[in-house]
Amino acid sequence: MRISVYFVLIILAFLWSCHSEIPFDPGPMDPDVIDTMLVNPVDTSMNTPQDSTGMPVDSSAIDSTLAPCDTSVIYFESDILPILIGNCANAGCHDPISAQHELVLTSYDALKLHDDVIVPFDLDKSELYEKITEDKVSDRMPPAPNEALTQDQIVKIGKWILQGAQNNSCNDGSNHSCDTAIISFANDVKPIFDTYCITCHGSSNANGGVSLISYNGASSVAKTGKLLGVVKWTDGFLMMPLGGNQIPDCDINTLSAWINQGVTNN
Ligand code: HEC
Repeated sequence: MRISVYFVLIILAFLWSCHSEIPFDPGPMDPDVIDTMLVNPVDTSMNTPQDSTGMPVDSSAIDSTLAPCDTSVIYFESDILPILIGNCANAGCHDPISAQHELVLTSYDALKLHDDVIVPFDLDKSELYEKITEDKVSDRMPPAPNEALTQDQIVKIGKWILQGAQNNSCNDGSNHSCDTAIISFANDVKPIFDTYCITCHGSSNANGGVSLISYNGASSVAKTGKLLGVVKWTDGFLMMPLGGNQIPDCDINTLSAWINQGVTNN
């Protein structure tokens, strides 16, 4: 009898302790966390860049937020694309108009339309790599009488594939400050042409009669208004770089400021 009374008491005590158990309280929320949740809903479909307060970032400032270049990494934008545009995307070859073998080599997206042209981490399966390293001249790309790619270019492409063949870019610390207060042709404008344009607008291959290799050619096309039209992709203008991505806003702003400041030769 006594035992069962104890037993009931124990059960009651147990139930009581359950009942009075304080529900888990996460405590006051960190106001910063709440803020980010409100203004920064987790939505990966939104690719508009935002700053830490959730406000859209002026895309002209994006470049400076890119990670600084790492010398051990090969970047598509600055290392690989210029090789492709300069050696493979010439008129009649893998430019958007000719698109030999339905292959256009002027942007990452165009490249990725084919599964076997570049296979990340796999040189043997990457047809492009096979073609540029082909010993038989008749099978090689670029085809004779063009020169083969240089050893340095081949190594870069190989490393890029082995590093995963990503659509990556980096901040090389130059020309990306987006400070358009005083533009210098040599330091700010010319590097843009060197990076994105001279493979098709050099002295020997001045497509459309436009040479961007030096001040003279660049300034004359700038003064006609065509330069800004083609880089801004304004209606009625060709879209440059031909077949490629639009150049970063920061660079467009630099060209625009250079023109507004009187197309200076400084
Ligand atoms: C892949 C090659 C290629 C690249 C890279 C390229 N262009 Fe062109 N560009 C052309 C060709 C080809 C034409 C001539 C098109 C035509 O006349 O139909 C042309 C024409 C032009 C014209 C003359 C447009 C006109 O209406 O007369 C300008 C200006 C120009 N490009 C500027 C640029 C600038 C600036 C860049 C770099 C941001 C650039 N291009 C990069 C191939 C290229």
